[in-house]
Order: sequence, then C-alpha cells, then structure tokens
Amino acid sequence: MKKKFMAMLLSMSLLGTVGGCGITTDINEATGGGKAESVETGTEGVENTDNGKTIGILMPTKSSERWINDGNDMVEELQKLGYKTDLQYAEDIVETQVSQAENLITKGVDCLVIANIDGEALTDVCQKAHDSGIPVVAYDRLIKNTEYVDYYISFDNTLVGVQIGEYIEEALNLKNANGQSYNIELFAGSPDDNNAHMLYDGAMSVLQQYIDNGSLVVVSGQTDFDTVCTLRWDGALAQSRMENILTANYSSGKKVDAVFSSYDGLSRGIVEALRSVGYGTADLPWPVITGQDAETATIKSIISGEQTQTIFKDTRELASRAVKTVDSILKGEEVEVNDTETYDNGVKVIPSYLCTPISVDINNYKEVLVDSGYIEESELN
Ligand code: GAL
Repeated sequence: MKKKFMAMLLSMSLLGTVGGCGITTDINEATGGGKAESVETGTEGVENTDNGKTIGILMPTKSSERWINDGNDMVEELQKLGYKTDLQYAEDIVETQVSQAENLITKGVDCLVIANIDGEALTDVCQKAHDSGIPVVAYDRLIKNTEYVDYYISFDNTLVGVQIGEYIEEALNLKNANGQSYNIELFAGSPDDNNAHMLYDGAMSVLQQYIDNGSLVVVSGQTDFDTVCTLRWDGALAQSRMENILTANYSSGKKVDAVFSSYDGLSRGIVEALRSVGYGTADLPWPVITGQDAETATIKSIISGEQTQTIFKDTRELASRAVKTVDSILKGEEVEVNDTETYDNGVKVIPSYLCTPISVDINNYKEVLVDSGYIEESELN
C-alpha cells in the first residue's frame, strides 16, 4: 500500500511539473484551528477521459494508516473512471470537517463521500448538500439524524465485535473454564462513532455471560460503555486510562489476562501502559490483547508477541464499493446494497452495503494480509 501511495505522489508531482493544470496541493488553514490538507487531483495520465464530474471525499484524520489508504484507494479508482477528486482530511476536528463539507458543496462537487468524525454533527451539512442536489454517501461510519444520506458503505460492525469477543472466548478457553477466572479490562471506541457502540454490543453479546458467571473478572469494575469508551479513538487516552487502572487495581500483584481493545491505535497505547509496569517478560507475559484495522505496525506487534489479534477490514474492498456506489448514483443506475434493516440513523434506515471483517492473528496474518497483497512482507521486517 505504501508503495502505491509513493507512486501516486511521484506521478502527481511529475504531472504537476509537466502539465501543471488540474493538480493542486495546498494546505488550508481551516476553521477550528486545525490544518487540513486538500489534495485536488485531475485525471491527466489516466487512460479514461475526464467525465467532467468531481467527487468530494472527506476523511477524518491522517493519524491512522487506514484512512490514508481508504482515501488514496478511492482517488485512484475514481480517476480510472474519469472522475476528478477532492480529498480532504480534518485531523479529527469536527468543525474542520463541517467547513470542508460546506466548501465542497459551495464548489459544486457532484457527490460527497464522508467518513465522519462526529456522526451527529453533519445534519445541517447534509441538508445543504440535498438543497444543492448533491448525493451523500456515508463511508465506514454512519451519519446520524438526517434524511439526506443516500447510502452507507461499511463493514458489519456488530460482527467485528462478535469476532473480537469470540477470539477472547477461545483464547482463554472460556467455554470450559471449570471455575477458573481471568482478569480482563475493556476499551471501547469513540462515543460519537456509531461503530463503537455496535462493536461493543457485539463483543458483549459473547463476553457478558462470562462476566456474569465469574469466568471473566473486570477488576477495575469499569464495564459500562460511557466509562470504557475512548473519545476520538485516541491511543494516548487509552494508554493513560490503562495506566490508571493498573495503578489502582493491579499493584498488589494481580495479573491482567486479557484486554478487550476495539482498535489497534488503542491497543498500542495499552501495550505501552502494560510494558511500563513490566509486562512482556518471562515473569509477566503479555495478556491476550485484541484490536481492529490490521495496521502494519500492529502486525509487527503481533509478530513480536505483544498484541495478539486484530480485525482485518479490507479498505481496498470498502473503497471499491464506495466508488461503485458513487458511479451508480451519478449514472442513475441501481445501487447494489445488501442490508436495508440494520442502520437506522434516527430518521430513516440507510440502505447499506456491508463488507465482511476477518479476524487475524499470528496464525493467519500471512495468508490473509501478505498473500492478498494488503501488506508487503518487506514492510513487516
Ligand atoms: C472506526 C472504524 C475502525 C477504526 C476506528 C478508528 O469508525 O470502524 O475501523 O478505524 O474508527 O479510526
């Protein structure tokens, strides 16, 4: 993926030198105090001719590898179909994303694809898009409280949670616990992200029974979503919460057996908190630590025995599905969906296409990630 990104940057800069027009890369000082990068790309050098349409793509942040891949994959595929693209990142600042959306609407893009930062902050923006005749596709994260979201492209977010729960169930052999109990701590995602709630509920549909029968003990006592959630999926917050939990509940020699973590970025913080009190040694081996996104740094961590598991959500598949959706909408063709029941955004059920997540650990990462070309083996050294 990295190679692809570098090649794209290189071709962009070459084209910029030769042709100049249609390609701008500028850093906007956006409202809300954050810097937002806007990359507008033309279709020069691409075989398909310009179809005269521009797609605005809003991604939450570049601080996570996955959103960079999602954005680049969509740009590449849309350009192959003759679209121009305007891809922007908002560094997790809600106001920045709102103003980026407003600017794209004013500019008159033909369709908006949005992976939101706060699912409840785009009601007015979606109304404005609708008033300007611009369809909106919610990407990965559901946009809530508006009639004006046309489609939702994501993974089965409940299944992600179930897969994480089942991994812990199996790793600790909870079905045959025979009176044995294991200490666990819980880390959910951002409260303003619908995915975080669905994932947590999915995981608890597997784990709650073991908490109830005492096979799993949440030593901190922190189990309700509002306590275990992590605003903006911020790894630093997860790290400090884990540090506090370790100091307050484990200093008498109790041992952490498992950490339910909803995202690789959180897991990295959790690993550091555990490392700082001596985990990762012969006396104190790493607990079972889960995650989500299968980022390169995470697979390295799995290989070195720190993190145990992650969930692979193929961003190539997601991006491709979003591009197909945009293309069908703009051509007036029927849009393929596979779920018309699950994603009620508070105003209506959004027709959705849900891709299937895959649980990955040391035993299958090669087959799932390397053989499929998602991560190159050389990146894992
Ligand atoms: C969620 C997404 C996860 C992860 C997380 C943090 O919305 O479903 O895969 O990327 O955001 O970025």
